[in-house]
Amino acid sequence: MPIIALCSSKGGVGKTTTSLALALGLARGGHSVCLLEADPNAPLAQWLANAGEQENLALHSGLTEMSIVKAVKKASEAYDYIIIDTEGSGNAATGKAVAMSDLCLLPLSGTRLEAEQVIKTIGLIEDTEIMQKRQIPFRIIFVRTGNFATKEFKFIAQSFAAAGWPVMEQGLKERAAYTAMFQYSVSLFALNNIDVAKADAAKAEATAFAAAVKKICEE
Ligand SMILES: Nc1ncnc2c1ncn2[C@@H]1O[C@H](COP(=O)(O)OP(=O)(O)OP(=O)(O)O)[C@@H](O)[C@H]1O
Ligand SMILES: [Mg+2]
Repeated sequence: MPIIALCSSKGGVGKTTTSLALALGLARGGHSVCLLEADPNAPLAQWLANAGEQENLALHSGLTEMSIVKAVKKASEAYDYIIIDTEGSGNAATGKAVAMSDLCLLPLSGTRLEAEQVIKTIGLIEDTEIMQKRQIPFRIIFVRTGNFATKEFKFIAQSFAAAGWPVMEQGLKERAAYTAMFQYSVSLFALNNIDVAKADAAKAEATAFAAAVKKICEE
């Protein structure tokens, strides 16, 4: 079953938030999802410990470069989707996650600094493709974006297009509802517009994002 890795060589770009929104969106759609956490800070384990059991969603945390390969293999035999959240340092566990992946998702907001890190991560994917003699599909995702495209954002999007790198049309905007999942330790789908502004818009966006990722996995 599809193994999806959220990767970036830079910390704090939105991997964990995007992993959880994607996992919840797929689980909500009736798919069994296993989140694999390869980050010693374990934000997802903390989230689940407080949020409580979630329908169609399992989590295996505490993965290291020594344990990640076998954990991914085992999960891939039991769940519809495997989503790996890596640590933002481009370490050995990240390299192994990329090597095991059917799809790598590379999140960034529209800043040049993050774009340079995306290019570095694409380099890691390309090296892995050479070593494994296979293509590793990847998609760049814009996250934490505002309602209006800045000049910097447009320049980066054009540069990616010119390089022939695929950018997902469906990204995730900067929304309080995504932050609130961690703030209150709840599922995105348990939030409503009274708890947090535009919760419904975030739920619709995460659902569309999960559907778009599903479609890529089926291509
Ligand atoms: N779509 C979004 N809307 C609003 N806030 C977001 C969004 N995505 C991420 N954030 C916020 O940005 C910050 C970094 O996000 P996150 O922890 O997901 O990044 P990360 O890449 O997993 O970081 P690390 O490398 O430290 O693991 C957090 O404060 C998070 O709440
Ligand atoms: Mg993280």
